[in-house]
Amino acid sequence: MKAKNFFGRGISSIEGSDWKFNSNVSNNFDKHVRQSIPMYDEIQKYICSLSEWFLKDGSNIYDLGCSTGETAKNLFKKFPNKKIKYVGYDLSKEMIKIAERKNTKNKKKIQFKIADINKINYKKNTDLFLSVLTFPFLNSQKRLKLYKKIYKSLKHGGSLIFVDKIRSSSSNFEDMINQVYFDFKIENKLSHSQVLNKSKSIRSSMQLF
Ligand SMILES: C[S@@+](CC[C@H](N)C(=O)[O-])C[C@H]1O[C@@H](n2cnc3c(N)ncnc32)[C@H](O)[C@@H]1O
Repeated sequence: MKAKNFFGRGISSIEGSDWKFNSNVSNNFDKHVRQSIPMYDEIQKYICSLSEWFLKDGSNIYDLGCSTGETAKNLFKKFPNKKIKYVGYDLSKEMIKIAERKNTKNKKKIQFKIADINKINYKKNTDLFLSVLTFPFLNSQKRLKLYKKIYKSLKHGGSLIFVDKIRSSSSNFEDMINQVYFDFKIENKLSHSQVLNKSKSIRSSMQLF
């Protein structure tokens, strides 16, 4: 029998299985990201701050891989009076359920949809695309197609603001940063085995450049 394995904060999987954004992960996602992504709240803050340059009344925003709707929550907290339309997409229905629950306040301005971001026909003349840490889950072929699609859908002067996870061109630096990253997780009360298990589980689902 395979041993049960934990990634942290109630997130579990069976040893050898790939990382999946299922109900188990979704229900613990907001805590998990803060334990395992350095400066997660700062990232969210900067995404909202940068958005200001591209948003005016009537603007539309797509959030690609919106998970639990944290970016939408922060965006509408920062701009409560802007008449903007936000659509967040995610493949995981459990994530979308939580995103809807967290964003009941701005129902008229916010929509969450279960969909594959590669298969959507985005509106022409879009003001802003956001994507926080979703691109690492797309392979290079899908990414290229998506970048082109986004570019064609953007209005002149519109923007794609995204956060990616990348490899360093220096193996020395890559090694150092990875170790600092593991230290960060341990300092945030993840155990050594949780850190290792997460790292193993994403071997085949993440493609970094
Ligand atoms: C690391 S999470 C994104 C975090 C989120 N943007 C935030 O600000 O907290 C990656 C998300 O991308 C979603 N995802 C991965 N591939 C996708 C695809 N092809 N289409 C839609 N969503 C996708 C996953 O379900 C997951 O919720």
